[in-house]
Order: sequence, then structure tokens, then C-alpha cells
Amino acid sequence: MLDRAGNANEFRDSLMAQSAVPAARAPIRVGVVGVGVMGSNHARVLADLPGASLVGIADPDLMQSRKVADFLGCKAVANIDDLLALKPDAVIVAAPSHLHHDIAISAIGAGAHVLVEKPIAPTVEEGEAIVAAAKAAGVTLMIGHVERFNPAVEAIRNAIRGEDILSIGITRVGPFPPRMSNVGVVIDLAVHDIDLICHFTDSHIIEVQPQVRAAVADREDIALLQFRTANGVLAHINTNWLTPFKARTVHVATRKKYVIGDLLTRQVTECSDYKPDGSYSMRHLSVAYAEPLRVELTRFLDAIRTGGRPDVTGEDGVSSLATAIKCLAEQGSPGDRPALLRAAG
Ligand SMILES: NC(=O)c1ccc[n+]([C@@H]2O[C@H](COP(=O)([O-])OP(=O)(O)OC[C@H]3O[C@@H](n4cnc5c(N)ncnc54)[C@H](O)[C@@H]3O)[C@@H](O)[C@H]2O)c1
Repeated sequence: MLDRAGNANEFRDSLMAQSAVPAARAPIRVGVVGVGVMGSNHARVLADLPGASLVGIADPDLMQSRKVADFLGCKAVANIDDLLALKPDAVIVAAPSHLHHDIAISAIGAGAHVLVEKPIAPTVEEGEAIVAAAKAAGVTLMIGHVERFNPAVEAIRNAIRGEDILSIGITRVGPFPPRMSNVGVVIDLAVHDIDLICHFTDSHIIEVQPQVRAAVADREDIALLQFRTANGVLAHINTNWLTPFKARTVHVATRKKYVIGDLLTRQVTECSDYKPDGSYSMRHLSVAYAEPLRVELTRFLDAIRTGGRPDVTGEDGVSSLATAIKCLAEQGSPGDRPALLRAAG
């Protein structure tokens, strides 16, 4: 972040003296573990990101890794150990979620900074172990809740900054994914919005009231989740895989404003200045143009260079996962129990 980087010169200079932090101007050597849908996007962005050098990718699917490596002109290896032998400063963990713990612990053990895709892990215990290991090793740990870096999310957050937030409603719906992993909509989709609710309110969720159902698939494919945050905001998430088109919308009511954001078209509208006759002002807010993943990776590199707090901490990742698991546990229907998430993709 510009302000953080701008204010951090002294702090950064002192950190540069420590060997774990790459020198300010040297590119940060990054490796990507798992180059399926998400990991190949990380690799694509890193290959072209100023301040980063893509040292290699690791994936046991050699056809896939060769395809990505040939396209990006980087080295392909079969596993995390071979990637760590290339001495990356940082590792992106984009393998299936049930492997996040072991891969992240190996990378941290080798002294690498780590960005772990969401959800941080299949269980809270494994997520906490990753957080503890990163802390003990003194490396940066960030979680890939990429929606935080959607410019529309930033515009909404700016519009409600300093306002008395009353409620938040988020819709994230669409058709079934082409390849089903064995997690349902709560872990796959709602975890993004649980994180956004905490981000918008600068708070955490203390109460959940979930309605969850596996209507068509083996795992939950509809979820209507209600929450209360520690600072008193009411929130709900409507998510499913039963809608023929994708929609991602955020509605925030504050005491003086109503802000509506479309996270796909990135149009953000603010209603304010309510009059006794029912009239009000309405305006479209300006939204920056940026690829969220590029912003996320830039911020990760910033956090490594400055030694500062990453935008999405390991604790944030654990907290969102814990809330999602609580929704499933409180619902308690067969097949939705958290222990089964261990096998999640
Ligand atoms: N932030 C987001 O919006 C977002 C979106 C999609 C996926 N994800 C997350 O990214 C992760 C990957 O999801 P995906 O959709 O890309 O899955 P995917 O199945 O497309 O890709 C996973 C890749 O990991 C590889 N892999 C399997 N075992 C491995 C191992 N031991 N070491 C290295 N690689 C291994 C597979 O061969 C595959 O190429 C998941 O944690 C998922 O939740 C996040």
C-alpha cells in the first residue's frame, strides 16, 4: 500500500539489515505450488509483475505444469521440495485446500514467505498451525481472499468509512462450477463474503444463523447465512450454485447512506441526503481499474519488503474459515460436518 510503504522508510531500512527480507530493489523470487485454475493465474501475473521474479512452478500434473511453464518461460518441477531447492524468497500455495497445511509448513520451514489461497486450510487447527509456524519463523503470511482487492470493494469501503454501518447484504450466486470439488458453497463461496463483512465493519462475527441445504449436489449448494458482528452490524449472505448466471452484489445500509456495489461490473452507487418527502440523492462513485489478483500480489510483495502487516493476515483467514465451519456445524445436516472438510479440494 502506498501510504504504508511511504511511511515505512525508517522501519524498512532497519528490516533490510536483517537477511530474511530481500533488499528493497532486488526482485523477490517467487514460486507457485499448484498451477490449476488459480495457480496458473498467480503465475501469469507474477511473470509480469515489477519487483517479482517467477523462479518456478510445482505441480505433479506434468502436462499442466509444462503447458504453463512453456507459456510463461519459467521452470517446472513436480513438487514443493524441488521448488524449494530453487531457493524462492516466497511461495504461493494454490494446490487443493487439503494440501495447504503441509505445503505451507514446508515452505515456511525453508524460510520462505507464503501466500496461501483461500480457504487457509480445511480445518481451523491446520490454519492455526500455519499461522503459528509463520510467526515462529518470522516470515510474512498472507491469505488469498482476492475479493478484498476488487476495486469495487475498495470504493464501497471508502464510501462507508466513518459511517454508522447498520446492515450488509451480499449475494454471490451462479451455476455449478464445471468441476466440482468436495466442498460446498459455504466453504467455496461464502468464505469470501464472510471476509468482506469483517473487512467492511472492521469487526468480527460473533453470531451465526445459517440455513443451508444440499438441494441438487452431495454438498450444500444453497446457503442463506445471517450474522451479527461484535460491533453490532447485521449481515446476510445469499449464495448458491442454482442460478443460471453469475451475480455478486453488495448492499450496505448506514444511518445516512445506502451503498450498492456490483462486484462483477464494478459499478458502485451511493444514495444519501434523504429528505422528509422521501426523495434522496444518488450518484455513481468512481471505481479504479485494476486486476484484483495483481493488486493482491503487489500488496504481498509490499508486506514482504516492509515487514509490515499483510492486508489479509493468517488470523483473518482462520477467522473466516472458523465462521464458515460454524455455519455448517450449526446447520448440522449429514454430509455437512466440518470433519469431512479435511478431504476438501
Ligand atoms: N481466491 C479465489 O477466488 C480462488 C478461486 C479458485 C480457487 N481458489 C483456491 O485455490 C486453490 C486451488 O484451486 P483451483 O480451483 O485452482 O484448483 P485446480 O484443481 O484447478 O488446481 C489445483 C492444482 O494443484 C495441483 N496439485 C495437486 N496436488 C499437488 C501437490 N501435492 N503439489 C502441487 N500441486 C498439486 C493439481 O495438479 C492442480 O493442477 C484452492 O485452495 C481453492 O480454494 C481460490
